[in-house]
Amino acid sequence: MERPDTRLLYQTDPIWVEKVHQNFPLFLADHAANERKAAASAMLLVVQYPDKPSLVSTAARIAEEEIEHFRLVFQKMQEMNAPLLPDEKDDYVNRLHTHIRSGGEERLLDRLLVHSVIEWRGLERFYLLAERFPDAAWRDFYKKLAQSEANHGASFYVEAREIFGEELARRRWKDFLEFESEACRLTPLTWKFH
Ligand SMILES: [Fe+2]
Ligand SMILES: [Fe+2]
Repeated sequence: MERPDTRLLYQTDPIWVEKVHQNFPLFLADHAANERKAAASAMLLVVQYPDKPSLVSTAARIAEEEIEHFRLVFQKMQEMNAPLLPDEKDDYVNRLHTHIRSGGEERLLDRLLVHSVIEWRGLERFYLLAERFPDAAWRDFYKKLAQSEANHGASFYVEAREIFGEELARRRWKDFLEFESEACRLTPLTWKFH
């Protein structure tokens, strides 16, 4: 099975890892929120597309894995007495959502590709932490999460390709690589996950 061309067009400056390290309890709260939101938005696909059994099954599995990620991060936060924090808006994700078209079928294609590209960005950033974070135990933690995000990124793309065909999925994917790179460039790099 052919994998999508997932080379992202924007590379995160490794200085991000230092920012994360300096604000680690805040970063963990943001990370936990991202896992919880990923689970909720995967479940939204399950609710909204009951006529697409393969998508329902994939999205339900991913939702379950994202909840597990949330639980793992939250457990670590509790060990460190780091609090969960109220949600803040995510400019990066909101920018990507502006490119989702409103028509029924087109909307689904775009949503699947947004899910996929966000997972690939998660993979890129988790890998940065897995390679560069000062603490070895956290490097291992993020390495495991990175592997899971790679699977999610591929799974959403495969659903898009199965439903819409290779050519359409590939063509629109190229658009979303551009949109995603722009969203990264427009979003200031802080200690936050996005
Ligand atoms: Fe996750
Ligand atoms: Fe994920």
